[in-house]
Amino acid sequence: MSELRESQWQYLLGEARAASTRSYAPYSQLRVGAAALTTTDVLVVGSNVENASYGLTLCAECAVVSDLARLGGGRLKAIMVVAGDGCVLTPCGRCRQLLFEHGGAQLEVCGETYGASTTVGELLPGAFGPVDLNERSER
Ligand code: THU
Repeated sequence: MSELRESQWQYLLGEARAASTRSYAPYSQLRVGAAALTTTDVLVVGSNVENASYGLTLCAECAVVSDLARLGGGRLKAIMVVAGDGCVLTPCGRCRQLLFEHGGAQLEVCGETYGASTTVGELLPGAFGPVDLNERSER
């Protein structure tokens, strides 16, 4: 059961779709947009930005995390990621780790079937994170 109201998911869907139109994806032609809410209801958005050196591509979720820092930081509570067709796209592995860092296991992620949200904890079980680093580092 999502903590977000239907109207809030609709808001994120609209913002993510708008962000996907501002993607730079000349290589894959997969235009991705992401929109998220922080725990204080600040909107953060991003689009994917590709590079001729393919491995340097920035996912839309990377841009969301950058926008989060730009706006003063905080914790993410819900995110919507869509492709240029307007439908939900599931975050890639690296981005699941990024989202874990900035929202934790409870961060809600819009599922592939719109309306059925999941969590980062479900998408990345047993995640390694800041707590593990603090507890295990020999620094
Ligand atoms: N992409 C994202 O922006 N987010 C994801 O979670 C999956 C993939 C982008 C990266 C690349 O520009 C294109 O989709 C194809 O992989």
